[in-house]
Amino acid sequence: MRITIFGTGYVGLVTGVCLAEIGHSIHLHDIDQAKIKLLKSKKIPIYEPGLLKLFKKHLKAKNVQIDSDPYKALQASSIYFICVGTPQLSNGKPNLKYLLDVSNNIKDYIDQNRSNRKTFIVLKSTIPPGTTKELQTKIFKEDTYKNIHLGSNPEFLREGNAVYDFMNSERIVIGSDSAEFIRTLQRIYSPFTKKSKIHVTDPQSSELIKYGSNAFLATKISFINEISKLSDKVGGNIDLVAQGMGMDARIGSEFLNAGLGYGGSCFPKDTQALAYTFSKNKIPSKIIQSVIDINNEQKIYFFNKILDRFSKKELKSKSLLFLGTAFKPHTDDIRESVGISLINMISPIVKRVTIFEPIAKENSINALSKLNNVRFQKTRTPSINKNYDFMILATEYPMFLKIPYQNFKKLKDKVVFDGRNILNKDKLKKNGIEYIGIGK
Ligand code: UDX
Repeated sequence: MRITIFGTGYVGLVTGVCLAEIGHSIHLHDIDQAKIKLLKSKKIPIYEPGLLKLFKKHLKAKNVQIDSDPYKALQASSIYFICVGTPQLSNGKPNLKYLLDVSNNIKDYIDQNRSNRKTFIVLKSTIPPGTTKELQTKIFKEDTYKNIHLGSNPEFLREGNAVYDFMNSERIVIGSDSAEFIRTLQRIYSPFTKKSKIHVTDPQSSELIKYGSNAFLATKISFINEISKLSDKVGGNIDLVAQGMGMDARIGSEFLNAGLGYGGSCFPKDTQALAYTFSKNKIPSKIIQSVIDINNEQKIYFFNKILDRFSKKELKSKSLLFLGTAFKPHTDDIRESVGISLINMISPIVKRVTIFEPIAKENSINALSKLNNVRFQKTRTPSINKNYDFMILATEYPMFLKIPYQNFKKLKDKVVFDGRNILNKDKLKKNGIEYIGIGK
């Protein structure tokens, strides 16, 4: 089927390319001319494993067209996937400006063309519960726009795994009051029905599934992080605690890794948006707000471990090796990255910070450009030597597990702060290294 995608970011580009992969003909639109220019030159503006190869394949096969002209995008199909950003405003409220701009463009186009062809508007952007209904009542009034079919179709893509997640999603959620909308999306996703469950709901429930899922995953992380502080206090090992808890199928072992807490463009934004939506509906949200608070406190809890180990006077002359600034492994995204926040906290009180970051280096250099005692290693793997007094690990890259343990002995103070609890404490201790994790 012919489908137009509005927004070519982490969600739109992955959605467009993967829908092309299952046989659809895709028209990509974005208002960002730089992005469109890049895409037309067969490049992609994000780092997402496997995406570039698929994008080039379908560009070549002409299954994917790219245009910044909204008219052409609207003309190209009558199925519109809206994948524009809904960034948070200062009070946590999601900014729906881009969503409303696209929606009004669609409405104007339909008004001008008086076409009575059926039009399907698929809301894939993460939107507050009730937004689909609001668009239905405020812009696409049912009595005027009988042929407009609206619905919610949230994505559950993890950055760094987005292509895999799209092609192997456990569930496809379709939320609409229009039977035609539901039928159309079931046709679009039919190649996936063998491995994905199609879950049909009303629009509000679909929107709540997205927020509820992300907020629950964030809750698991803040939960184990809160337990990690008690584990530190009583001398437990939070890894063993998480493993023991995860053996209960009702709890599950995923997303119980204690550490510096979550970053990225989703959990922070979506938990804030959910807390905002609760307050807007005058319902106290105790759990969500504490998930946010615990996550914000976790990096300070870790930072205080450094201040407990070294006095401020000592730190002034220390040179620090810092591993990982991406908000998670295998992505160039540093939005709400805890590593970046930590560097901003520690750089002013140490002599120098040397960073090793394999994927998100460019973005990190820009984000930290104001700090004059920060530099980046140019090597492909982290080089640990006596130029550094101690080390901090902030991103859980598997490659850091391959560092030979004796290399850490070259650190002058032989102290390692493991913000993601991934290094082997016993092996480091055997090599005479002082290991400081979270909850261990
Ligand atoms: C998340 C959801 O997983 C995905 O379903 C949703 O569509 C978008 O948001 P993403 O933000 O890309 O995906 O990354 P994710 O892998 O979920 O990690 C988020 C953050 O949590 C990272 O900073 C990671 O370091 C941290 N994390 C993850 C933990 O601190 N502990 C864990 O156990 C898991």
